[in-house]
Amino acid sequence: MTAEPPSDGAPSGGRERLQKVLARAGIGSRRVCEDLIDEGRVTVNGTVATLGDRVDPAVDAVDVDGVRVGIAPGLVYYLLNKVAGTVTTAADTHGRPTVVEVVPPEPRVFPVGRLDLETEGLLLLTNDGELAHRLTHPSFGVDKEYVAQVEGRPGRGAVRRLREGVDLDDGPTAPARVSLVAPDVLKLTIHEGRNRQVRRMCEAVGHPVVRLVRTRIGPLRDTRLSPGEWRELTQDEVRALERAVRPEEPGAAPRTDPGADPADR
Ligand code: URA
Repeated sequence: MTAEPPSDGAPSGGRERLQKVLARAGIGSRRVCEDLIDEGRVTVNGTVATLGDRVDPAVDAVDVDGVRVGIAPGLVYYLLNKVAGTVTTAADTHGRPTVVEVVPPEPRVFPVGRLDLETEGLLLLTNDGELAHRLTHPSFGVDKEYVAQVEGRPGRGAVRRLREGVDLDDGPTAPARVSLVAPDVLKLTIHEGRNRQVRRMCEAVGHPVVRLVRTRIGPLRDTRLSPGEWRELTQDEVRALERAVRPEEPGAAPRTDPGADPADR
């Protein structure tokens, strides 16, 4: 007697029907996912998938339209609105509150990049090491937006210097998008992630930072998340992040920031 083929979607040695896995990842209904596979828009480990393919969510890499889909079990992504006075490390030797203590303890997550003790605003925490690595790697240039209240009233010269790049002790900064949003408030978008960069840039032009808030990480924004609160990213947000760190395809248009003000480009 021959073995019965596994019923639709049933695990077969850790492998499940591709459309089921895609649907669970929030790509669409199973029917929609079948159509995507049929249209040749889905790859498994770099090979175009066909209907009937099975994958192991723990090991296989699945892309839709070239964008990696988070199918691995147990990956979590939290967006936190950090308050001043919390440290961006997993544990603090001085016993200060950490950002990791604010989110659920299991599964263990780590902050993606750093915000200074006194910096407020958006911080991503995840256990997705691959995405975190790409997000923090300078070669992917994911930009971050900050709003800085500063001492004094920066004039046009200071804003121009910030835009063009200022000399810091670890080298000049790359050109940045900078605008004055109030007499003593600057909005800066940078894609480098150097230590205390915004504070040092503002200080270098004679306007030390009084208060610093991160308001955007690549495609992620949230003006409704209260200070100290966190939430899980939506599937769309995870996909947008994946897209932001996807290596540029030859001939592709340069990345744009959908949330940026045209005025400060
Ligand atoms: N730049 C800074 O100076 N501090 C931060 O926390 C983030 C960016």
